[in-house]
Formats: sequence, structure tokens, C-alpha cells
Amino acid sequence: MTEVIIVKNQEEAGQIYGRAVADLIKAKPDAVLGLATGSSPLAAYQALAKIVKDESIDVSQVRGFALDEYLGLPLEHPQSYHSTIHRTVVEPLGLDPEKVHVPGDILNGAPLEDGDKIALAGPAYDRAIEAAGGIDVQILGIGTDGHIGFNEPGSSLASGTRVKTLAEQTRIDNARFFDDDINQVPTHCITQGIGTVLKARHLVLLAFGSGKAEAIEETVEGGVSAFCPASALQLHPHATIIIDEEAASRLRHKDYYRYAFAHKPAWQGI
Ligand code: F6R
Repeated sequence: MTEVIIVKNQEEAGQIYGRAVADLIKAKPDAVLGLATGSSPLAAYQALAKIVKDESIDVSQVRGFALDEYLGLPLEHPQSYHSTIHRTVVEPLGLDPEKVHVPGDILNGAPLEDGDKIALAGPAYDRAIEAAGGIDVQILGIGTDGHIGFNEPGSSLASGTRVKTLAEQTRIDNARFFDDDINQVPTHCITQGIGTVLKARHLVLLAFGSGKAEAIEETVEGGVSAFCPASALQLHPHATIIIDEEAASRLRHKDYYRYAFAHKPAWQGI
């Protein structure tokens, strides 16, 4: 079963992620972290940064791979995921920027028309993840339409990293980062595929607020379907879904998830 942990708030969720990842880095100093942008992981990155500082954990060898990037934005654009990952993860944690990769890095704003360059970027990214030994822990947010990374409904559950067209809903949701102007939100992206995500050894999906309740219901208790890309987590042997009460509000087996977590042996971790 996918483990569902229902928490009070984002801080509690962040603490659970932070502890798990800090322990991982202590055991494996060159751990490979899968990184996401968006609002859901922010408290988790802050919690991890605090533990790293308080416990003087050496993160100089930690490596990172982001999930996705907009197409057509130069790397230095403040809303490029390259900039966002550096601002929200690399700097607060004190990671070596050379060891943290974002799928659009080799494209650096190349236009969609530059097919030769763009078509090669996805497979090259998947090869780089494999060469690093694979991702140890992949943090994920979820879109209101069930997307993970930028894999919109209908994405192949076996997909690798590639170019995708963003759904209108995702552009509406993300307009808040672009002066509330949907016209500024790029129409295309490059994203790790669902198949790529499923290769990570541990998946941790975070979701907060009632706006995510329907997507969480489909993810956890619906059938596995490309129309809810996050439902692919049901196929993963080690997936942890950490959500608040509002995001959990439509789940039928909430009581069982609570009971199972409360009775989990501490040595299991998450
Ligand atoms: C971001 C990403 C997206 C977001 C999702 C939720 O790298 O991969 O799938 O995780 O759109 O976004 P927030 O967390 O802002 O609600």
C-alpha cells in the first residue's frame, strides 16, 4: 500500500521529510535528491535546511535532479525552475550548484522550434540520472488535475524525460508566479516522465489544502490511470504521501491510514 500520513500542517510534513532526508545524507553523503518546485515542498526544504545546520551535516557531496522546467525561459529568468531550485534548495541547504541539475539546463531558453537540441535533452537527462546511480528520494507535489512533474493527464505511465504541452489549468494555476498573467506562462515544458519518476527508490508526495482533495482521492483510492498521473504511485514499492486534513478530506480510508501510521514501528522510518 502507498503509505498515507495525515499531518496538521506543512511544517509537520516538512519535519518528516527533513528527518528522513537528513538521515539518508548521514548514511550516504553523496545521496541523490529528486527536487520539485512549486509551493508544496517549500516547508520541507526549510525543515531540511534547519536540520542540516543544527546537526552540522556535510552536504558538499549531495547531488540533485529537478523534475521539470519551462521551455523558452532563459536560465536566469526568476521563474525558470533553474532559478527557483537554486533559490529554494541550493542556497538554503548550501549544496554545490555544480551537482544540482535541472532538465532545461542544457537548453538555456532554446525555443521550441529548435527541435534538434530539444529532442535530445530528455534522453540525455535520463542518462545523467542513471549515471549518478539513480535518485534516492524524489519529492513531488501534485497538480489539481493529478499531474506530477509536468506530466499532465494522459501522459504515458512509462514515459521518460521529454517535452510536453502544459494543460490550460496548469498555466492558470501557475499564473500566480507570473504577475497573475497567464500569457506570460510558457506553453511547453521539459519534464521527467512518469517512468523516470517511478525509478526513484523512494517517492514522497506532499499536498495541502482542499484544492488538492480530489486529486489525492484519485491518486490514493482511484484506479491506476494515465488520467491521474499521480496514481502511478500505486505501482511504486516505496511511496509516501504526506497531506493535511483538507487534502485528505475525500479519502474513504482515512481512519486506517491514521491507525497504520500511529502503530508503525519507529525503526521503519518513512
Ligand atoms: C513542480 C512540479 C509540479 C508541482 C505541482 C504542484 O516542479 O513538478 O508538478 O509540484 O504543480 O504545485 P504546487 O506545489 O505549487 O501546488
